[in-house]
Formats: sequence, C-alpha cells, structure tokens
Amino acid sequence: MANVAVIGAQWGDEGKGKVVDWLASRAEIVVRFQGGHNAGHTLVVGDQTYKLSLLPSGVVRGKLGIIGNGVVLDPQALLDEIAKVTAQGLKVSPENLKIAENVPLILPLHPALDKAREAARGGDKIGTTGRGIGPAYEDKVGRRSIRLCDLAEPETLSKKLDELLLHHNSLLRGLGATPFEKQPLLDALLALAPQLLPYGEAVWERLDAARAEGKRVLFEGAQAVMLDVDHGTYPYVTSSNTVAGNAAAGAGVGPDSIGLVLGIAKAYATRVGSGPFPSELHDEIGRRLGERGHEFGTVTGRPRRCGWFDAAMVRQAVKIGGVNGLVLTKIDVLDGLPELKICTGYRLDGAVVKHLPAAMRAQSRCEPIFETMEGWSGSCKGARSYAQLPAQAVKYVRRIEELVEAPVMMLSTSPDRDDTIALRDPFAG
Ligand code: IMP
Repeated sequence: MANVAVIGAQWGDEGKGKVVDWLASRAEIVVRFQGGHNAGHTLVVGDQTYKLSLLPSGVVRGKLGIIGNGVVLDPQALLDEIAKVTAQGLKVSPENLKIAENVPLILPLHPALDKAREAARGGDKIGTTGRGIGPAYEDKVGRRSIRLCDLAEPETLSKKLDELLLHHNSLLRGLGATPFEKQPLLDALLALAPQLLPYGEAVWERLDAARAEGKRVLFEGAQAVMLDVDHGTYPYVTSSNTVAGNAAAGAGVGPDSIGLVLGIAKAYATRVGSGPFPSELHDEIGRRLGERGHEFGTVTGRPRRCGWFDAAMVRQAVKIGGVNGLVLTKIDVLDGLPELKICTGYRLDGAVVKHLPAAMRAQSRCEPIFETMEGWSGSCKGARSYAQLPAQAVKYVRRIEELVEAPVMMLSTSPDRDDTIALRDPFAG
C-alpha cells in the first residue's frame, strides 16, 4: 500500500508541518482527517513561511488537498486562511481543495461556549485553544451539527439552527454568557454558502477512485496521540481521535487504505495547555530548550512547557497509534547540552510503571524515572546523513529506538525542508 499517515506521538507541535510538507512533495493527495483550526502547521519553503491551520499542507506543494468529514470546519477561519495564503502567492480554489460535504461546521456559538466553559473551570482549565473544537464535536455526536451540505438547504438550516440554539443558549445562559440570536447566524451562513459550497463533495468517492488509480495519498494528522480523546491524558486532551485508526473514519476510506504510519516526535518533549507532563523541566535547561526550540504555540502564541524525551509515553503512543516508524525532529536543539535524560517509566506509589495510567490523579502523581546519557559537543544542525551527525547523537537516536520499540525512519535537523535524513521513501510501502 503506497499511502502514508502522519500523526503526532507526543502532545502536538512535534514539527509535523515540515515532515508533512516533505512527504506532500511525494504524494498526489493530502487529506486532513480530524481536528480543526486548533492545529497549527508552520511550513518554511525558501524565504516564505506559511502558517496553516485548516488547509491540508499539500496545497503549498500544488497538490490536491482534502478536508475530511472527521474535521470540524470553521467556515470563516477557512476563508480567512485561504485569503492569507493567496496574499502569499498560493492558489486555492475548488480545483485543488475539496471538502467533505458531511463535515460539521464550527459556528460562532462554539468558541463562545468553549471560552465560557474554560472561564467557569477557574483553576482547573483544560487550556483549550478557545476555537470551539470541543463544543463542535459534542454537537456532532449529539446529532445537532450543521454540516457543509446543510448550507444548500435553507429550510433544513433554519430548523437545525432552532435545535442548536435551544441547546447552546441554555448552556450559555447557565454559564452567564450572552446567548445568540437565530437570524444573524442564519444570514451569515447563507451569505457564506456560495463561497463554501463549491468546495463540497463526496470526497470518499474521489478517494476511492484515487485508490483504484494507485495514487499516493498522505493522511495528515493534527494534535497527537497523548491528546487523543480516548487514549490521551484525559480530560486534558482535544476532542477528536488523533490516532492513525481515525484516518479511515475521518476521511471515508477503509482501514487498509492508510498504509504506513509515521509518528512524529521531538527529540525532547513539549506541551501547551494544562495536564500531566512527568518529564517536564522547571529549570534552566527547560528554559534553554524553549528558547532554542522557539517553543511558542503556532495558534495561540502561548509558551510551551518543555521537558526531556519521554520514551515510556512515546512507546505508548507507538502502540496505540499504530506507528510503524518514528520521525525524530529538532534534534539540533539538544546540541551542546553536556548531559541528556530520557524518561523510561514512572514511579507511582512506590511501584514502577511502564506506561501512563488512565486515571487522572494517578497520572499527575507519576514521577519520571530517568536514564542519563552523555550529550555531544558537535552540531546536528543541517545534517543530511547519519555520517554528518556527532557519534553521541546517533547513540541517542539508537537508544530511543530501543526504548520506544520502533525504528527512527527520518530525522529532521533544522526547520529547512531539505535538512532531513530519510532512510527510505515512506511511499515505497
Ligand atoms: P482544544 O483542541 O482547543 O479543545 O484544546 C484541548 C487541548 O489540546 C489543549 O491542551 C490544547 O493546548 C491542545 N491542543 C489543541 N490543538 C493543539 C495543537 O495543534 N498542538 C498542541 N496542542 C494542541
């Protein structure tokens, strides 16, 4: 099978954008299958930097981009993003972007509810991006969503808005937030309809045809396994399944269409938002990783929490996410550190555990067990072959492979697309 799925193997922000861009140049179709504009992918191409949230990264490479039904789509955010990249010289039209007609929409009431809930949580915030992702997914499983195809049926839209507002306004009032009126929402959606509907289609048909023609498809995950709504550090997670298994349901293809699964992991660890992070560093080294790695959220600009590579957690992500091989990014950020640590498991109530437990309080009580390795004085920055890496850096990579029980198939050694060490073409199957 010549398809590839890319997912995050930590808490997001692993540098998927660059890897997806590199792979997109070898693919014919790039599909987003979950998440929404909470994601932020930075692509550096020559002297241009593209910051994408919703658009599949392939559009930068002139490939066909598909937004699958597993995404939650904010129409205004999409149109704004299209305008932004158009101003940077890219062309986005229904020729090169297709959106699943059954994709659920994010309306202004979703971020309003997201923010009102976060405010009500006080000190127990999830630390969401405030983009309405959680409330939009709740509406999907609650069978209340307004979907792209509804924009073509004003009567359906009007009826569905009544049901949606009954639900949301009760919640918003209860939370002391301002309720929404129907008519302005309806007018806004009907005004957006002519701009959005031309992108909509049964993308599963197109993907089925692509399969028959042997086209190479790249499934582009957002967020990461430890933010998965089932398998992550619940409730400090996003509201979708981020594992590769969801690429099938979120795009409308069978599970055998997914092909090779690459898990992206930073050579250290970061997290934005709240929640457990056993290998987190609160010292000078953590600050140094943050500075050298430019660890600020693409979407929210929040500084990311930084820590040592957590091999126990990445191993968990490898198993649950169905990862066949890892892509290790930002190894150059570790250049010059005299000593490195890798978390190999946790101590919990006097016992040693090999993976993060599911229960919330148990997760927060996990103490990391570290193994220490010598650092390297040379530089990994810009290396394009293993021979160009300091010997100690190669040892670090090999140790990670052993601990996470997966091969490192690619290494990224700078933000530049070409500073990549690839052992084989992932599309070769
Ligand atoms: P939400 O997805 O906005 O509901 O946020 C839920 C959690 O997921 C928060 O901790 C966010 O910081 C985190 N999150 C959502 N999207 C991303 C991402 O693209 N990268 C990293 N963290 C994310």
